[in-house]
Amino acid sequence: MSGVYIHIPFCKQLCHYCAFHKSISLQAMDEMLDCLKMELKIRKDYLQDKTISTIYFGGGTPSVYPVKQIESLIETISKYWNIEADAEITIEANPDDLQPNYLKNLAASPINRLSVGIQSFHDEDLILMNRRHTGREAFDAILRAQDYGFDNISVDQIYGVPGLTMEKWQQNLQQVFDLNIQHISSYHLMYDPNTIFTRKLEEGQLQELDEEESFDQFKYLLEKARENGFIHYEISNFCKEGYISRHNSSYWLQQPYLGIGPSAHSYNLNEREWNIANNHKYMRAIQEHQIFSEKEALSFSDRFNDFVLTTLRTYWGMNLEKVRQSFGEEIYRHCSTKAKKYLQSEHLRQEGDAIILTDKGVFVSNDIMSDFFWINEEKEDAKTTI
Ligand SMILES: C[S@@+](CC[C@H](N)C(=O)[O-])C[C@H]1O[C@@H](n2cnc3c(N)ncnc32)[C@H](O)[C@@H]1O
Ligand code: SF4
Repeated sequence: MSGVYIHIPFCKQLCHYCAFHKSISLQAMDEMLDCLKMELKIRKDYLQDKTISTIYFGGGTPSVYPVKQIESLIETISKYWNIEADAEITIEANPDDLQPNYLKNLAASPINRLSVGIQSFHDEDLILMNRRHTGREAFDAILRAQDYGFDNISVDQIYGVPGLTMEKWQQNLQQVFDLNIQHISSYHLMYDPNTIFTRKLEEGQLQELDEEESFDQFKYLLEKARENGFIHYEISNFCKEGYISRHNSSYWLQQPYLGIGPSAHSYNLNEREWNIANNHKYMRAIQEHQIFSEKEALSFSDRFNDFVLTTLRTYWGMNLEKVRQSFGEEIYRHCSTKAKKYLQSEHLRQEGDAIILTDKGVFVSNDIMSDFFWINEEKEDAKTTI
């Protein structure tokens, strides 16, 4: 089971919180499309597995491209790999791009999953974030997508945003539940470096929402999502039964994936690799049949720490027997000691051999995961089989 991620590094407007790699200069879109196809060709042997189960167009904003051009990328993938008949093919789309004609073409394409950035239904939040759409437009875009037959729709929302009161957050969630969609990604606002939000925060023009208020919003989200039939399967992700994001789950289940495009990451079990986050430099290299990327061979500690990061964030949790088999007795003992502490404090619960974050644990998941990390240089050369 392998996946291909294609990063579309363009947006029509910059959202003030977002640090994902993108450019708002759209002149190079055609040249970029050719380069993405060339990279697929150059890296056709990266994945051992010749069958692709999931394709994910992320960004940036993939919906800046006409559907025909996105389809031409799928055709290129099919030249070098077998795409499974029931492959999950997702496109991230901005609500204002989901106009009737665009949706009609999408519905006729192999794309079978939509991930739509809603963020909030309140116009004052959307203005603060510098989004291109109103709340009403976002709501209508989802209804329209459903009319065109999309039955696997995910929406992105952000909480913990300055000015987002509990009442507004409750309304946002209720609107999402009313839409009867299959998947929700709900992110706590992060103040990433090099964003306008972070600059405004530093200059005192923006006030961070109180941590307790953010925590209450998160607790409310967990409670209401469950009441409305959603499974909380990863820190920020919720789905109806049968609608887990297969593509993102493959990252968490440590399956290999190929990332195409500027800033995209790849993983083949032994190495992590990430392409340069610069459109111009990326394209120049590809045009000379080179990949401008950095690689990192994974040491023993990297592998184990990756294992912690990817497994503990999910509802499958971290399997201690798998830890013993893959990383040996010493690491197993290290994990058992840490687990005992967090089981007692009810940040973790145990199910068979797996330890799983509780709701209390999810909110401080970063602290717990880093406490499990293994930092031991002597172990660097040891071999692991995951
Ligand atoms: C890669 S973006 C692409 C989505 C698409 N371009 C859109 O904006 O509709 C995926 C999602 O990440 C989330 N996101 C981006 N920056 C964030 C931040 N600083 N804090 C929390 N969530 C963020 C947003 O919810 C966004 O929809
Ligand atoms: S949130 Fe989406 S549209 Fe906004 S800047 Fe980030 S990638 Fe672009």
